[in-house]
Amino acid sequence: MKKKSLILAVFTALIIFNCANDSEDDLIDPNSLPAIVNYVDHIKPIIDNNCIGCHSNPPVNGAPISLITYQDVKSAVQNNHLISKINGNGPGELMPLGGQKLPQLTIDLITKWETDGLLEN
Ligand code: HEC
Repeated sequence: MKKKSLILAVFTALIIFNCANDSEDDLIDPNSLPAIVNYVDHIKPIIDNNCIGCHSNPPVNGAPISLITYQDVKSAVQNNHLISKINGNGPGELMPLGGQKLPQLTIDLITKWETDGLLEN
């Protein structure tokens, strides 16, 4: 092996070694839920991304309620079965209607929001 390619090989090995040994402190555990779930930080982004295409104000596509404000979403959890509808155990259709079921972690997050007291922020 030429000296130049040996240096390159050692260098490459070092880079690979370093990348494989990142500190675990840098990694965010994708399976962890926040200690306390609140609407502004955690729930609103989910609703905005998955629900307000229909649950706008006024709602469209046959959706009966809007999910734009904190009060809207809180009230839907308390009075309109929001959590059972994202779990697919009714009443009515699975939400988001016509889409993929939300990832389990997202459903867990919304469920924890209710357990934590439906806080705004
Ligand atoms: C493609 C349009 C559409 C999308 C997107 C959608 N919905 Fe709906 N939603 C509807 C329709 C239509 C109904 C009425 C039929 C039913 O209840 O199954 C409804 C009903 C509901 C109800 C019950 C309201 C009531 O008073 O009965 C809740 C709660 C709800 N949706 C929550 C959500 C949530 C949360 C999301 C996002 C994760 C979502 N929806 C996404 C169309 C949609």
